[in-house]
Amino acid sequence: MNTLSISHLSLTYKNGFQAIKDISLEIGNGMFGLLGPNGAGKSSLMKTIVGLQKPSSGNIIFNGIDISREPDFIRQNLGFLPQDFGVYPKVSAYDLLHHIAILKGIKDNAFRKRQISGLLEKVNLSDFRNKEVHTFSGGMKQRFGVAQALLGNPKIIIVDEPTAGLDPEERNRFNSLLNDISKDVIVILSTHLVEDVRNLCSEMAIINKGKLIRKGKPGDLISELEHKIWSKRINRNEWEDYQATHEIISQQLIERELYITTFAAHQPKDFNAVPPLLEHVYFHSLTQKP
Ligand SMILES: Nc1ncnc2c1ncn2[C@@H]1O[C@H](COP(=O)(O)OP(=O)(O)OP(=O)(O)O)[C@@H](O)[C@H]1O
Ligand SMILES: [Mg+2]
Repeated sequence: MNTLSISHLSLTYKNGFQAIKDISLEIGNGMFGLLGPNGAGKSSLMKTIVGLQKPSSGNIIFNGIDISREPDFIRQNLGFLPQDFGVYPKVSAYDLLHHIAILKGIKDNAFRKRQISGLLEKVNLSDFRNKEVHTFSGGMKQRFGVAQALLGNPKIIIVDEPTAGLDPEERNRFNSLLNDISKDVIVILSTHLVEDVRNLCSEMAIINKGKLIRKGKPGDLISELEHKIWSKRINRNEWEDYQATHEIISQQLIERELYITTFAAHQPKDFNAVPPLLEHVYFHSLTQKP
């Protein structure tokens, strides 16, 4: 079992902006989902875990070792797929993996070759091994990203919004790949897709404005909202009135009709009960005052 223990972590960027505020989390094997709106601090948190950002305070302990003291230890055990991979050099998929493997310190030649071929197979890119990565489609680039993250058999894999921009088929393929590899390792996934966290992750956290606002098992967080979520179809001109009198957690167009969803301990007049979803947990938590 691997363990990542983040305690009282804060990060202030050089310009004085505090992107992470006193976050503590315990993460074990399996898939951990990190949800939060744009600018919440998900990428900042991930970059701090992988050692690309030095925290202002707090610490990160991986398998009992403080990573700030032994940065090589986490580097050797870690795979990272950043949100923005940047520019790909004009080299083939195979050569780029080879290069990254060397940077990761995989010295044994035969082992390296075997692993690269195995990973290309795993992410379904064997037929494209000699193609230059910059010519790949978005989905192929993300699968390549997973292959590079898996080099060296890391015990912790961090993927930052990996399915953004993928078509539904590629997204499914990518998610099942993550699911397969998360059995014996820690996978931390950040995403805006609440549904993906529900389907893939055994544990999750929601962050907003740099703060941790919810954490737990998706099913448990959903159960807490049982009999507290209500919905109603309204006319567009009624929206402001409802917003003034109810805790509206979302508004949604369904077949061109406007529905509002509210959180309340008792059934509000003219509202229908709806079974809680992780989406409700997410929106409700964002309306909470920290
Ligand atoms: N290098 C930096 N210097 C200063 N501020 C930064 C830096 N990087 C990020 N920020 C700020 O930190 C906050 C959190 O950014 P971050 O990229 O971590 O959010 P995020 O949750 O990953 O958002 P998204 O969902 O859009 O990817 C934002 O307000 C952002 O502008
Ligand atoms: Mg981000």
